[in-house]
Amino acid sequence: MGETMNVPNTTVEPGSPRDLRLKLLAEKAEDNIRRNNEEYAQRRVVLASTPQNIFVQINAVCNANCVFCSKGYDYPLFRLDDWLKHYGDKITPALAQARQVILTGSGEFLGLPDAQRILEYFNSEFPHVEKYVATNATYLTPKIVDLICSGSSKYVVQLSLHASRPEIQRVMMRYGAYDRVQKNIRALMEARDKKNVNVLFMFIMTTLNIDDLPDFIRYASRMGADKVVCGYFYIYESNQKYLSLYFMQEKANQRLEEARRVADELGITLQAPPKFGLTPEVYKAFDVCQEPWYQFMMSNDGYVLPCDAYGSFPREENLNVMSFSELWNGPTYRKIRTDIVDGKGCLLTCSRHNPKSVNDWNSHVIHRFKEDRQIIKEHHESLRRP
Ligand SMILES: C[S@@+](CC[C@H](N)C(=O)[O-])C[C@H]1O[C@@H](n2cnc3c(N)ncnc32)[C@H](O)[C@@H]1O
Ligand code: SF4
Repeated sequence: MGETMNVPNTTVEPGSPRDLRLKLLAEKAEDNIRRNNEEYAQRRVVLASTPQNIFVQINAVCNANCVFCSKGYDYPLFRLDDWLKHYGDKITPALAQARQVILTGSGEFLGLPDAQRILEYFNSEFPHVEKYVATNATYLTPKIVDLICSGSSKYVVQLSLHASRPEIQRVMMRYGAYDRVQKNIRALMEARDKKNVNVLFMFIMTTLNIDDLPDFIRYASRMGADKVVCGYFYIYESNQKYLSLYFMQEKANQRLEEARRVADELGITLQAPPKFGLTPEVYKAFDVCQEPWYQFMMSNDGYVLPCDAYGSFPREENLNVMSFSELWNGPTYRKIRTDIVDGKGCLLTCSRHNPKSVNDWNSHVIHRFKEDRQIIKEHHESLRRP
């Protein structure tokens, strides 16, 4: 492990050198975001701008064990000091001019002993950059809530809950933290200023919880959520296959329709995926996905992806051996951008940007190289009792 670095103090005196530096950074970021939007509009393949969204994978152990979860079981954990030592110089300039930094990964980052320090670091170094944090809400302690709600940064907090009721949450997440989670959510909702902290409730849909979707919308509305996001899950492991609504299409469609009605009645925003089995002309034509222009996802150990639904990025292209710009305008990012402009490549099976692909089995499965340890994990998982 590297030495422990001091996280700078977050208070900024107006007119101080630090205040001026932060103002300059914010202006530079605005400039970069504008340029990034323009380059996307022009469908440029090589970009002068850097990504407006940067995903920093922060891996941690998890107290839950969601049936659909993509995490493995022996992945490396995030250590801020090691991360800064290895990647700080490479990624910091791009982070400083991003619009949003996404802080999440395998497991429950807010449960890391270092979670407060990590938030303090990003709050203090990049206060002008919005933070997106996904969490199951069990570690929203008063100190964490304070770091989210009391700083000058904007936050989007995704609460991954997947059920309105304890018995369904227990089946979906295979833990029993319902009461603690409700208490934490209430504390967050009370502490936040809606202008700065946006809270969305996440519901990953499987055959086990789909009946609960309309009630989940009612529950989210009662709790004061700004938005509900629901989505099909991606199958990472063969034994997750029969949890897929691909095998329960009529039920999925009915519940999505009901959920839409409830959301409209309650006036809450619902982001939902397309329904199954409609006639081809009913689906919206696919839009050009923005992610390869807007987003750079880096894993704990320096590997790269344009988005979570993308298959395998070549292993040899990574931040351990290449610079940020060699990757951002490297052969793979260039090819993905070109393919997407031509309506090819990953766009064909992307359920987010190509709605009719919901009917294609391939769009529900993530095809990635599988290490032996993952195969062993699948074997153990298949022997588990419910
Ligand atoms: C891996 S989790 C980690 C952060 C945190 N523990 C949580 O649950 O939000 C990040 C997000 O990925 C989503 N996710 C996990 N596995 C998924 C899958 N197989 N398909 C689609 N989304 C998934 C979860 O709902 C969550 O919103
Ligand atoms: S809470 Fe998040 S990381 Fe933990 S098992 Fe569920 S989806 Fe995976």
